[in-house]
Amino acid sequence: MSTTVSLTVNGKSASADVEPRTLLVQMLREHLGLTGTHVGCDTSQCGACVVHVDGQSVKACTMLAVQAEGTEITTIEGLADGDTLHPMQEAFRENHGLQCGFCTPGMVMAAVSLLRETPRPTEREVREGLEGNLCRCTGYHNIVRAVLVASGQDPDAGTDRGHAAEAPSGGVEVAPGFSTGSGA
Ligand code: FES
Ligand code: FES
Repeated sequence: MSTTVSLTVNGKSASADVEPRTLLVQMLREHLGLTGTHVGCDTSQCGACVVHVDGQSVKACTMLAVQAEGTEITTIEGLADGDTLHPMQEAFRENHGLQCGFCTPGMVMAAVSLLRETPRPTEREVREGLEGNLCRCTGYHNIVRAVLVASGQDPDAGTDRGHAAEAPSGGVEVAPGFSTGSGA
């Protein structure tokens, strides 16, 4: 028996006939072809599957597709503006915040959500905010740097690793609804 689930994905209406047991991540990848959202564990350990559901960061392997009926979903495919990367994606690129890239979609989605809640996090807050996302390659250092840069802060300016220093120049618009940097 299948059920039709209708939702909005990256600003467009979408629907699919799924089984009651189908996970949201399976619906996104297998029914809607949005394979940018990865599956690393399927048991809510790795964070590779993080998407935004009604603006909240969610591991898409922990949610049934039928539970997403009527919601607004944003996946990694919905972050960039055409050929222009989202500032968080650009910060990851500039700061070598990825190697194999498998964790990156979930890491970026979680990082965008983190800055929505905490626009100017300390290094410790970044590490704690991303602790649900595992990376096998980078050692996390450059990921943390990327998030601090995306928040308009200079990751090299602080001596207290618990408190990131102020950025010397203006920040960037990280996500709709807030901007960071001098004057923010
Ligand atoms: S695939 Fe969802 S947390 Fe690993
Ligand atoms: S870049 Fe390879 S798992 Fe994170």
